[in-house]
Amino acid sequence: MRKQIVAGNWKMNNDLSQTESLITELKKIKKTSTAEVMVAPTFTNLYNAFDALRETDIEVIAQNMHFAANGAYTGEISASMLKSVGIQTVILGHSERREYFNESDAMLAKKVDAALANSMRVIFCFGEVLEDRKSGNHENVVGSQIKNALFHLEADAFKHIVLAYEPVWAIGTGETASPEQAQDMHAFIRKTLADKYGKTVADSVSILYGGSVKPNNAQEIFSKPDVDGGLIGGAALNATDFFAIVNAF
Ligand code: 13P
Repeated sequence: MRKQIVAGNWKMNNDLSQTESLITELKKIKKTSTAEVMVAPTFTNLYNAFDALRETDIEVIAQNMHFAANGAYTGEISASMLKSVGIQTVILGHSERREYFNESDAMLAKKVDAALANSMRVIFCFGEVLEDRKSGNHENVVGSQIKNALFHLEADAFKHIVLAYEPVWAIGTGETASPEQAQDMHAFIRKTLADKYGKTVADSVSILYGGSVKPNNAQEIFSKPDVDGGLIGGAALNATDFFAIVNAF
């Protein structure tokens, strides 16, 4: 069975005391679903969050990392640095990284390799912009984002990869992809994987949806057969809303 996952991407929000308060709130709420739960605080709060959530089943994950092991990359963080503070999973390829920090498919392929070489799990994000959706080019765009960054990998690597489809036009806009649009794209993604690696691999990879998932729409989106969970932005900054989404499974 594929894993169901709900991950909160806190983006560049919450200083140390806000992070601690949010974690205190998260710890008060009872999880009633079987989904794996993850939260991604900023780099400066990773260790405190990891430490505070040690005894819980909420995994603390990172929002990004560099591909190099170490060296002259001012301001960057490596996989081994993340691992040294307890982090086992990293989000790579978020559209905000692609757009504002010029992360290319080629760079992301190197980041994926570095994460896997360090035995980390990757949540690999991709998604089309509104223009591509409107012109009907969304599948081509998503297909090439996946192929360019991941298709050099051996099939076995997909045990450590979670995919996250995040249409750029739905991120932070309040405009969610309809459950049907999400399902259609997730089915296309699974077929793309199956064509390259076979059905067994394709059926084993969790594919999350991200983009304005809220307590009032999560259940319908998660009910689609190829949607295995969500990557949550804004709603993950509120413990009650986040757990309402987690418990929508
Ligand atoms: P929103 O849920 O705020 O639209 O953000 C989605 C996202 O980018 C998660 O990575």
